[in-house]
Formats: sequence, C-alpha cells, structure tokens
Amino acid sequence: MTRYLMAIDQGTTSSRAMIFDGQGEFVAVSQQEFPQHFPESGWVEHDPEDIWRTVIETCRDVLQKADLKADALAGIGITNQRETTVVWDRETGRPIYNAIVWQDRRAAVLCQQLKDDGSEAMIHEKTGLLADPYFSATKLRWILDNVDGAQARAEQGKLAFGTIDTFLLWRLTGGRSHFTDATNASRTLLFNIHEQQWDADLLKLFDVPEALLPEVLDSADDFGTLEPELLGAAVPVYGMAGDQQAALFGQTCFQAGMAKSTYGTGCFLMLNTGDKPLHSSSRLLTTVGYRLNGKVTYALEGSIFIAGAAIQWLRDGIKLIRMARETESLAEQTPANHGVYLVPAFTGLGAPYWDPKARGAIFGLTRDTGIKEIVTAGLQSVCYQTKDLQKAMEKDGVRPVALRVDGGMVENNWVLQFLADVLGATVDRPKLIETTALGAAYLAGLKAGVFDSLETLEGLWQCDRSFTPEMTKETRDRLYEGWVEAVNRLQD
Ligand code: G3P
Repeated sequence: MTRYLMAIDQGTTSSRAMIFDGQGEFVAVSQQEFPQHFPESGWVEHDPEDIWRTVIETCRDVLQKADLKADALAGIGITNQRETTVVWDRETGRPIYNAIVWQDRRAAVLCQQLKDDGSEAMIHEKTGLLADPYFSATKLRWILDNVDGAQARAEQGKLAFGTIDTFLLWRLTGGRSHFTDATNASRTLLFNIHEQQWDADLLKLFDVPEALLPEVLDSADDFGTLEPELLGAAVPVYGMAGDQQAALFGQTCFQAGMAKSTYGTGCFLMLNTGDKPLHSSSRLLTTVGYRLNGKVTYALEGSIFIAGAAIQWLRDGIKLIRMARETESLAEQTPANHGVYLVPAFTGLGAPYWDPKARGAIFGLTRDTGIKEIVTAGLQSVCYQTKDLQKAMEKDGVRPVALRVDGGMVENNWVLQFLADVLGATVDRPKLIETTALGAAYLAGLKAGVFDSLETLEGLWQCDRSFTPEMTKETRDRLYEGWVEAVNRLQD
C-alpha cells in the first residue's frame, strides 16, 4: 500500500496543506489566506485562531481532494513562517496576545539598546543572529512586558511560548506536545547553536523563564500524534522545520556549498556549510540548516524582507498591473539598462544592511519613464538584492556551487534569466517549485521509513530548466553599480 505524507506549510499570508506520495510526487494541495493585522505603523500581527482554523480546514480539504482517509498518512511534517511568536495559557490553550509576526518592527528600540550596551557580540557568537527586531526573543519580551501579569504567570509555569510550529503542534496533539525543532529554535535569539540548547546567559539577558520554552528535538523526530478527532486518525507528526530550512531540505542541498534561494513574500538565500557553523563578518546569519539523529548541518543565510511583496505592491498598492504574471511580458519589452531603480525597503532593509528605519524609494525617473520601467525595476530589485547576498557570502569566503531556486516568483522566466545574468552564475529551477512543503514531507518520510536515506531523496530532485548568464561582465557591473548607488542614497 502506498503510504502518503502530509505537509502543513503555515506561511506569512496563507496556510497550506499538501499531500505527497511515497515517491515524493505531488498529489494534492489546499490553501487559505488569512487576515493580516497592522495595529500601528511597523507592527504586524496574526490572530493565532485564524492560523489554527486555516491549518485544520486545509488539512481536511486536502484529504478530500486527494480522496484519502487520514489513516493512509504515514506521517505529517510541519513547516512554518519562522520567528513569529505566540504565548498561550497552558491550561486553556488560549493565546494571551496575537502572534507577533517576523516582519514586525516594534522591538527596534530594545534592539538598539542591546547594540548600545554591547550585547550584540554575545548574541551573535551564541546564536549566529543579530540584535534585530526580526527574531523571536524581543517580541516575546514585548508580550511579557505588555500583557498584564504575563511575566509572573510565565515564572509560575502557567504559560507556554512557541513559534508557529510549536503552537500548531500543541493544538494538533491536544496540548500533549510542547516541542520545537532545532531549526526553529535557532531563530529565537535564545538558542545556543553550538551547544544545541537554550542558553542560560541569553535567558537572563531577555529575562525569559525557562518554564516557558519547548523542548528542542531533531527535524525528523517523534513529535507526538494527532488528536484522532481532528482528522479521523492519530497520525504521527514526524517532521518539523522552519520554512526556509525546509526549502533547503526539499531542494536536497545536502552537500556543503549547495545553496537555494526562495522567492516568496521575502527572499531567503541559504547555503549549506556542513557540520561547521560559519560566522559571518558581513552580517549574514548563521543558522541550523537541519538536525538529523542529533547531527547538525549548519547554513549561512541572507534574509531579504521584500521580494514577491514588491510585485504585490505594484499590483495592489499602486495598481500598475492587474496580475503578477503580466510582469514577465512588460519586462521583456524593456531594455535592462532603462535607468530606474526601485528599492523596496518597505519594512526596512534586511541582510546585509540591517537597517530597520530605511524605507522604499524609486530613483532615476525621467519624463519618458512609464509603467513598464517601474515594473521591470521591481523585478530587478529582487535580483539585485540576491546579488547583495552573493557578494556578502563572497566576503565571507564562500560561493555557492550552484543556486537552486523556488517559490512562486520563479515561474517568471525573465526574472530567472536576469538573476543568472546579474549573479554571473547558473540558476536551476526544479520541476516542483513547492520545495518548502516537499522538504517537510521528506523530513516526515525519513522518520516514518518511507524514504531510507538522504541519497534516495537526492535522486528525486529533477531540474526543470537551467538559466545561464548571457550578459557581459561590463553590463552586469554597470547595472549593479546603479543599484548600490540607489541603496546608498536611501541610507544617507
Ligand atoms: O523568516 C521568515 C520566513 O520564514 C517567512 O517566510 O515564506 O512565510 O514569507 P514566508
């Protein structure tokens, strides 16, 4: 009997459930968007009940679409928007505040204080991260400071903290499992990536009681079983990883030097550095790529906050286009050197600049600038930002042997050709671009015994199309210089 795998992919703007068969072939998907809340400028929140509802509804729906009963599932893998922070009451399971989303900038002042008092070096050394509002601990601190009685209740062991993986697992298992995996833990600012445990100095720095925290397991592990009434069977949860790490896994970047770049809301370039963490001197992040049987594979990550979201803004914000897919033909009609640069720093700049106060701008407008130049500049900004990350990695002494790309935006051939041109490197698009969900299914499948090894998974990766650079070095350098100048002007 074929044993199926379900992946729950809980992202920033939608929840998805996908089913794969025992050969890693896609079977069915169900997706639901949910509301975003912006209570103040720079704040982004989700209602955890929306997250829970959309997850469970998509799980039920995808089983129906695949015409399967839950007992056909060998296991479930959870993958999630990372860093987003939830605190809930252990007894009632009810969150005490909305989920504070990774994009939220409310902790900027606290992060500045950490920089000013010299704590960032210690944070960087232990966690591989930086003092930026992006990560969980400063969001958790905000909840404990701003919800009445939260700190005291946390100290009494009455509350639980989790990123979205942990919150979902808690709900799926009826409160029996309070676990996370090493990849998600590595994004909290509380986890020592060298010792693979919560760090006492960091807990002290952020005044976080250990009683709040989940236990950290491998990425393929026994996370507990589902409450049978939810889907109709006590399916085991066997896989868990943050969404970018899951994409690295789904792209089977198992060898040191292999890299993937995912183009969703943001863009996250991750390079496998093997069993050694590589500490960046160019403000990239060092993170856990995955942990299997206690063995850690580390990764170097460049995080860009706005990629697909720039196209969304062109469509929904200033309404220059009606559908994202129009961008490809508009760009085809525009020479690459049209002179317009769009810097989409809508929520500050991520790697390698880390400037939470920066805001977006368009440079180089002339009387003959039209919609197609601005749209093309939007697409190009995503590629230039990837180039920034490539440059930062080179400064750290590493260059990806090849770049595997995924996420919705990579359907756009023009973008991938320009990306290859501007990087001066080959860009490979796999047949299945939903590698985040696939990675979660692979992790669950390994633990369930559906797949026997990483080598088997490597054998399943199939290239759809390779894009090789066609641009001269001179043109590439000139175009990129214009981008660097635009970013510099923004930061002046
Ligand atoms: O670190 C944030 C990242 O995990 C969010 O990913 O795809 O939900 O935008 P996505």
